[in-house]
Amino acid sequence: MNNDFRKSTVYQIYPKSFCDTNKDGLGDLRGVIEKLDYIKELGVDYIWLTPFFVSPQNDNGYDVEDYYNIDPRYGTMEDVEELIAEGKKRGIGLMFDMVFNHVSTRHEWFRKAMEGDPYYKDFFIFRKGKGDGVPPTNWESKFGGNAWEYVEKFDEYYLHLFDVTQADLNWENENVRKEIQKILKFWMEKGVRGFRFDVINLISKACYEDDETGDGRKYYTDGPKIHQYLKEMHDATFGKDEGIVTVGEMSSTTMENCFKYAGRDTGELSMVFSFHHLKVDFMGNEKWVLVPTDFQKLKDIIFDWQTKMAEHNAWNAVFWCNHDQPRVVSRFGDEGKYWKESAKMLGTIIHCLRGTPYVYQGEEIGMTNTDFTDISQFKDVESLNHYQILQDKGLSASDALRIIQIHSRDNGRTPMQWDDTKYAGFSAEDSAEPWIAVNGNHTRINAAEQLKDEDSIFHYYQKLIAMRKELDVIAYGDIEPLAVKDPCVFAYRRTYEGHELIAAANFYGRDCTWKGAPDVTGYERVIGNYKDAVSVENGVMNLRPYEAAVWYK
Ligand code: GLC
Ligand code: CA
Repeated sequence: MNNDFRKSTVYQIYPKSFCDTNKDGLGDLRGVIEKLDYIKELGVDYIWLTPFFVSPQNDNGYDVEDYYNIDPRYGTMEDVEELIAEGKKRGIGLMFDMVFNHVSTRHEWFRKAMEGDPYYKDFFIFRKGKGDGVPPTNWESKFGGNAWEYVEKFDEYYLHLFDVTQADLNWENENVRKEIQKILKFWMEKGVRGFRFDVINLISKACYEDDETGDGRKYYTDGPKIHQYLKEMHDATFGKDEGIVTVGEMSSTTMENCFKYAGRDTGELSMVFSFHHLKVDFMGNEKWVLVPTDFQKLKDIIFDWQTKMAEHNAWNAVFWCNHDQPRVVSRFGDEGKYWKESAKMLGTIIHCLRGTPYVYQGEEIGMTNTDFTDISQFKDVESLNHYQILQDKGLSASDALRIIQIHSRDNGRTPMQWDDTKYAGFSAEDSAEPWIAVNGNHTRINAAEQLKDEDSIFHYYQKLIAMRKELDVIAYGDIEPLAVKDPCVFAYRRTYEGHELIAAANFYGRDCTWKGAPDVTGYERVIGNYKDAVSVENGVMNLRPYEAAVWYK
C-alpha cells in the first residue's frame, strides 16, 4: 500500500448500496469483499466505508447504537476481519467512518441517561426549556425542525443537531472523550488504516443561546474547544501511528480553522472535507431551491482553498461526490449527449488538483442521478422531511418533488450498477428487491460494460489515479490558477522541481476558445477525453464540448 496520502486515492463505499450477496436486497460486507479485485483494478489505495455498526438505520448507520459490533444486516465481525485482511493483501487500507458528534437514541449510553442515571445523562446535552413548550434555543436541526426534543420525565430537552433519534454527545465531559478514544484504539488494533470523522467540527458547542440571525450553526460550528479536542484525540490514538490517515468532515467550516485541522504539523488530522464548492447551486446555505450552477463561484472557491491551504501547509480532500451529494455528471456535466466526455472532464479537474482525491462508488462509471418520479421511491430522512417542509411553506407537491429530485441524497444512494441484469448485479435476479430502486439506465451504464471498453470512464479514472503515483508534480506540486475569469474554462498549472503540469477543461457543452492559453509546445499530452489533441494556435486554445486535457513537461 501507498503510505503517502498525498500520492493516494480513496474509494468511498456506501455498503448498503454496493453489493448484496445474501439476496436480502441490502448491500453487505461480503459484497465489498467480493468486489475487492474490481477496486484494486481501479488502482486506489484506501477504501472509506460508511458506517456498518449496529444501528436502527434511521440515518442509514449514522445513528450508531454500538460502535463495537457489526449490524447483522451488513455481516459479522469475522466479515470485517476478513475484509481488512483481504484489503491488505491487495495493498488497500480500510478507513472506517466514525460518528462521534452524536449516537443513536438506542445506544446504551442514551438509554441509561433516559433511565435517569446521572453518569450517562451527562454524556448528552440536556437543558431546561423556556416554559410554555418553548425549547431551550431556536436552533434548527439539519434535517428540519427545532433541534431540541422534549423529555417529559425530566421536564428537559436534549439536543439533536440531526434527526431526533441522533442525540448529540457532550464533549465537555471527559468520560465521553475517553470512551471515544477506546473505540478508536479497538479498531486500530483490528488493523484499520484510517478514519473518516463525521461532522467532527460540530462537537464543541460555544453556548446554548438563541441565534437571532440564524439557525444556531454559528454557536457550534468550529466551536471554541474543537482544536483542543482533536489534538487530544490525535495524541491519545491515531497520532501514535504514522501510517494512519484521517479525514474530517467539516460542515460549514472556515478555511482558517482548516489550516489547523489539516496542517502538516498541527497534530490534528491528515486532511479535511469542506463543502463550500458544492453549494454553488444553493441559495446561500439554502439547499432546497432550484438555482443554476454559479461556475465563477465554483472556480473561485476551489482556487481559494487550493492556494491558501498550500500556503499554510494544510491538505485538502478533493472530491465532487459522496453519499450526501447528487451525482456530479448530472449536476455539473451532461447526462445525455456528452455523458462520457463530461464525466471524464469532471474527473480530470479533481484528480490533478493538490489534495487527496476521493472517488465515490459509481462515479468511476459515470452513474447519474435517480430516475425517481414519485416521492414514495425516496428513502432518505432528510429528503422526506424537506418534502413536507417545502409543502408547509406553500409549494405544490410537484414543485417540492422537483426540488427533491435534484438535491436529494438518494441520488447518490441507488444501487451500484454492476451489469445490465434486473437488479444491476447489485442483487441477483432471484433476490429480494433492492432497498432502494435501481436506476433504469443500468442497462447502458454499468461496470461490466466499461471494463470491456478501453475508452470507458472507468479506464479514464484508472489512468488519472495512476498518474498521481507516476508524476510527483500532481502529488507534491504548487498550484497556480489559470483562466480565472474565463466563463467556460477551468484550468490550472502545477509545478514541482522543474516539472510542470497544465490541466485545462471546458466546463460546458459548446465549443469554447481560451484566449491567453499557455503555449504547450514541447509538452507531452498525458491524458485527454478526446482522441486527438486540442488545437492551440497563437495563444488561443480551442476546446470542444466538455473537452479536458493535461500536459506535462
Ligand atoms: C454527515 C454524513 C451524513 C449524515 C450526517 C449525520 O454529514 O455524511 O450522511 O446524515 O453526517 O451523521
Ligand atoms: Ca445483503
